[in-house]
Amino acid sequence: CGIIARIGEGDAITKLVTGLENLEYRGYDSAGVAIQNGSGISVYKRSGQISDLKDTIVGNVPQGNVGIGHTRWSTHGSPTDANAHPHTSETDQVAVVHNGIIENYAELKEWLKSQGHEFTSETDTEVIPHLFERHLETEATIEDAFRKTIRKLEGSYAVAALVDGVDAIYAARQGSPLILGLDNDEYYLASDVPAFLDHTDKVVYFEDGDVAVLKPNGVTMTDLEGNQINRDVKQIDWDPEDAGKGGYEHYMLKEIYTQPNALSNTIEGRIQDNEICLEDFPKGTFSGIDDVHFVACGTSYHAALYGQQMLNRAGIRAQAFRASEYVGSNPGPVSDKTLAIAVTQSGETADTLGALRQAKSQGARVVTVTNVVGSTAAREADDSLFIRAGPEIGVAATKTFSSQAVTLSLLALRLAEDIETATPPEDKAELLRSLEVLPENVEKLLTSTEAKRIASRYAGSKSYFFIGRGLNNAVAKEGALKFKEITYEHAEGFASGELKHGPLALVTPDTPIFVLFNGENDTKTLQNAKEAQARGAPVIAVASEKHSSADIADSFLEIPDTHPVWSGLLANVKLQLVSYHAARNLGRPIDKPRNLAKSVTVE
Ligand code: G6P
Repeated sequence: CGIIARIGEGDAITKLVTGLENLEYRGYDSAGVAIQNGSGISVYKRSGQISDLKDTIVGNVPQGNVGIGHTRWSTHGSPTDANAHPHTSETDQVAVVHNGIIENYAELKEWLKSQGHEFTSETDTEVIPHLFERHLETEATIEDAFRKTIRKLEGSYAVAALVDGVDAIYAARQGSPLILGLDNDEYYLASDVPAFLDHTDKVVYFEDGDVAVLKPNGVTMTDLEGNQINRDVKQIDWDPEDAGKGGYEHYMLKEIYTQPNALSNTIEGRIQDNEICLEDFPKGTFSGIDDVHFVACGTSYHAALYGQQMLNRAGIRAQAFRASEYVGSNPGPVSDKTLAIAVTQSGETADTLGALRQAKSQGARVVTVTNVVGSTAAREADDSLFIRAGPEIGVAATKTFSSQAVTLSLLALRLAEDIETATPPEDKAELLRSLEVLPENVEKLLTSTEAKRIASRYAGSKSYFFIGRGLNNAVAKEGALKFKEITYEHAEGFASGELKHGPLALVTPDTPIFVLFNGENDTKTLQNAKEAQARGAPVIAVASEKHSSADIADSFLEIPDTHPVWSGLLANVKLQLVSYHAARNLGRPIDKPRNLAKSVTVE
C-alpha cells in the first residue's frame, strides 16, 4: 500500500492525487483521499485504480490545504469501496490512512464494539480512527490522544491521520516505511520518495516508534511517550525526471531501455585498475566468513541465485533461500562466520526483513543489497551495498535485476578474495573488463526488433518454458517469472537438465522453449533442447552468434558475445523484451499487473 499526506499553503488535492499516481506501483486495487478544511473532513474513496478515484472527484473537487491519501493492496478484506482508505471514526471526526497490518485489530474491534462503536469495513485499519476519536475525549491534547492510540497497536504500521477542524497531520511508524518530505512552505509524508519528489528532495526517514505532528509552520517528532526527538534531514539524489515515463509507453519499457545507464551507475567507481573497489567493503572485510545465506523474494531471489552461483564457482559455501521459507525454519548452522545477504530492491519486503532479522538474531553478519537508501533493510543490516539503479516504478522488476546481479557478482568476487579457502577466478581481469562493457552490450541488443517478432510468432501458445544451466538457470527462472507476471500466460523456468525429469511430460508443439546458451556446458543444454524439440516443441535459442550450437533452433534471439558470467544478463534483457511485447500484444496493464504489488510489506 502507499500513503501520501500534505500540509501547506493552497489546496492539497492535486498534490495528493499526483503523489498517489507516483505510488500506484505499491498497490492499486482501491484508492482514496481525505481533505480537512475546517468544516468537516471530505473523504473520497473507491475500489479500482487512481484514475477511477479522479473520475469521482471531477466536478466535486474538495478544497482544503491539508489532506491524506492512500492506494491499497488488499490484505484484510476485498477491494471494495468500503474497504478503501481513508477510514473514519464513529462521528467522522478522524480520518486515517494506514499501511501494514494491525495484528491485534480483532480484539480492539471487539472492545470498541462493546463500547457502541459501529464499523463499516472489514479492514484492520478501521480500529485506528475509532480508538483515536475515543482518546480525544479523555486525553489532554490531540498529540496525547494520538500517541495513546498508537501505543495500543500491535503489528506493523505507517499511519497518517486528520482531525476535523485541526490544521495538522498526525503520523507514526512501526515496521512500515514512512518518509517526511520538507519543502519551503509545505510538508509531505509518503511511503516512498517518488510520491513527492517533484516538490522536494529533502527528507527525514521515520524510525520505528517515531511519532510526528505536521503543522503549516513546522514539524515536531517525538517517541511514543512524547519525548522530543531529532532526526537528520537527508538529501535524495534521484532526479524527478527519473521517476517519470520519459516518453516511453510504459515504465517497464523505459526501465528496460535505461538499463545501460543503470548498469553504468551500478558499476561506476567499483572497478579500478582491474581491482574491485566496494565502498565500505575494502579487501579483507570478509576474511572470517565461511558460509553465505542469501535471503530474498521474487526477482530478487533470482538475483540471489545468480550470486550463489558466483560464490559456488569460487568454492564458497553459499545458498539462496526464499525469504518466506527461511523465516521460522532451520536453515542449518548460523554463526558469526555466516554472512547473510538480504537482496531486496525496495528494502521493505516483509518476508525478506523477517529473514534478515532471524539471521541477525542467530549471530550472522548481515549485509543488504538494495536499491533504496534509507530503507528498512538498509537501516537494519550491519552494512549495505546499494545497486544504484534509480527508482523503478513498473511492478515487474527489470533494471533492478540486472543491477542486483552485477552488484552481487562484485560482492562475490570480493568474498572470493577475502576467504582463505576460496579460489578467485583465474580470469578475473578479463571478467572485470567484460563487465565494464556490459552497459554497451545491453545498448547494442536493445536496438534489434527480433524480441518483438518472437513475441508475435509464439503468441497464443499453451505454456512457455525457459531453460538454462548454471548462472543461466537463474535467468531462465527470472525469464519465466517476468513472462507470467505481465502476460498472465503460464510460464516456467527450469534447470536445463531437469526438463527430462518431469516437465518434459508437458512438452508439446504448443509449448515454445527458450533455451539459454552461454558457452558453458552448451553441449548438454543443446541435448536438452533437442529432447524437447523431438517432442514437437519449438526451440528459441538465446545465444551469441559464436555459441550457435543454436543451429538446431527454430528461432534465434541473438545477444552480443561476452564472458560466460555476463551472458545471462544479456539474455535476460532479451527475455524482458519478449515478455513486454507479448503482454502488449495481449493488451495487459503492463506496469500494474493484476493482483501484484511492487513492494509487499506483509508476510
Ligand atoms: C514483490 C514484487 C516482485 C519483487 C518482490 C521482492 O512480490 O511484485 O516484483 O521481486 O516483491 O521485492 P524486493 O523489493 O524485496 O526486491
